[in-house]
Amino acid sequence: MYQFKDDNGYSVTYSHQMNPFSQAPAHVFILTRFNKQWVLTKHKKRGYEFPGGKIETGESPEEAAGREVMEELGGQVGELIYIGQYKVDVDPVIIKNVYYTELTSLTPKHDYHETEGPIMVAGDILAKRFDDQFSFIMKDNTVRFSIEYILKDIKGV
Ligand code: GTP
Repeated sequence: MYQFKDDNGYSVTYSHQMNPFSQAPAHVFILTRFNKQWVLTKHKKRGYEFPGGKIETGESPEEAAGREVMEELGGQVGELIYIGQYKVDVDPVIIKNVYYTELTSLTPKHDYHETEGPIMVAGDILAKRFDDQFSFIMKDNTVRFSIEYILKDIKGV
């Protein structure tokens, strides 16, 4: 378990274990790659961030991940690899599952819901994420822990 304060002063707890908290996750966050590049979405207010959102009633976290990636990127998820889960001590508490996936396709769309569609980022995203156009969510240690885990443990990234 790792613990730190985010940019808003909220306490965040992160773990690579499956469901380490007493509550179930209600959000998902998906680190996506396609053609050897990271694929992010452009949120209209927050800026560049990996796709994600709320799990809808009756959906599994993996179903929510597949739906959010299609809505926000026009991407089809490949195998969804569970990376970890984190809790933000905001009111009400937010618990997010983090996944990694290689997209099997990325198809242009007319409408990307509340986002402006895919942004491709090549190279060192851990350094690039501090640029102004990136969302505050990307600057969190949750992204660092997740990317480091992916680079260390998943072949071919
Ligand atoms: P929508 O309800 O989706 O429109 O967005 P919202 O930002 O109003 O609500 P949400 O429930 O997604 O988030 C509420 C607050 O929780 C945000 O304003 C952030 O302060 C915090 N939060 C949400 N997701 C994250 C995250 O991934 N990391 C961190 N550090 N904080 C988050």
